[in-house]
Amino acid sequence: MRKKRFLITGGCGFIGSQVLQNLLKTPHEIFVIDNLSTGDWSWILERRIDLKICDIRSTNALEYILDVAPHYVIHLAAQTDIPTSIEQQHLDADINILGTLNVMLACKKVANFERFVFASSAAVYGNNTKLPLKEESQIQPQSPYGMSKSICEQYLSLNKNMDGFPYCALRFANVYGNKRQDKKDVISNFWDEFIQQRAPTIFGSGRQTRDFIFVDDIAEALILAIDIKDSGVYNVSTNEQTSINEVFQRIGNLLQIELDPVRKAPRLGDVYSSCLSNQKFRAATGWKPAYTLQTGLEKLREIKMKETLHATKSSDVVI
Ligand SMILES: NC(=O)c1ccc[n+]([C@@H]2O[C@H](COP(=O)([O-])OP(=O)(O)OC[C@H]3O[C@@H](n4cnc5c(N)ncnc54)[C@H](O)[C@@H]3O)[C@@H](O)[C@H]2O)c1
Repeated sequence: MRKKRFLITGGCGFIGSQVLQNLLKTPHEIFVIDNLSTGDWSWILERRIDLKICDIRSTNALEYILDVAPHYVIHLAAQTDIPTSIEQQHLDADINILGTLNVMLACKKVANFERFVFASSAAVYGNNTKLPLKEESQIQPQSPYGMSKSICEQYLSLNKNMDGFPYCALRFANVYGNKRQDKKDVISNFWDEFIQQRAPTIFGSGRQTRDFIFVDDIAEALILAIDIKDSGVYNVSTNEQTSINEVFQRIGNLLQIELDPVRKAPRLGDVYSSCLSNQKFRAATGWKPAYTLQTGLEKLREIKMKETLHATKSSDVVI
């Protein structure tokens, strides 16, 4: 395997950390840009990873990219919270659109640059109800966040058409795993509340569905995407839909805790049902998800049990 330079923006985040773990198993050189707004860098310190703490919108980021001259960029840094994208539309567009442009334009100046892998989202499809959604399905974002991802895809496509800029935009379904940040996804929220014996909140009827994909599967897909020959958009998903009520039941069963949910009105910007066909990405890479929702939740339980055990051992010091 020839050693290449990988730059991961947002490498300290939830998905980025898993991508770094996978890359550490390869001989490739690893570089990270992160402003640590939601990321955690503590575990990176003793690893062979070069971390530049800066904002993707800054000239520092641009200069760093030119210095590193990466072969591949996996661009994950973003404002990822949908309610924030509604309340602070300027901020969302600034980070997600202008920040992405800053990184992409820097990559265009790098000689021998090979591919830009962009973290897009199922949010670009909005409330399109013709499931499973395919890459050519109609785009109708319901939030500024979804809109920002769709606009970035269009910039990438435009630059590919203008001068052959090589890219892959991966539209992730709902990613779950061992999230540490405050702003969490539905699975992490349910999990934490079950553990604390607090009734989890279900917005709307709970019959709305999502396509839940385990973070390890996403990290593997992001690295495989560098070898895709055809620039364009690809769904990365399980092609299965599960209702929020079922997720609630499954987590309760797994943790052997019985609670009734608190039911609240649906949230603005939330889509009703979501399921993405992963056929195109599977055909291009040979990838397929290793985890079902059940095996992913079991793996999550294993990780959390190890963490608890580790925390108990560390605090178990005799003075
Ligand atoms: N988690 C999901 O379910 C999901 C689904 C679809 C798409 N995505 C996309 O995947 C990517 C990663 O998501 P995540 O869940 O790991 O989010 P995350 O918030 O855990 O990670 C984002 C990382 O980017 C960094 N960051 C944010 N703004 C920055 C800026 N202006 N400059 C430099 N660094 C910055 C943060 O500190 C953090 O480390 C995002 O682009 C997100 O939109 C995530």
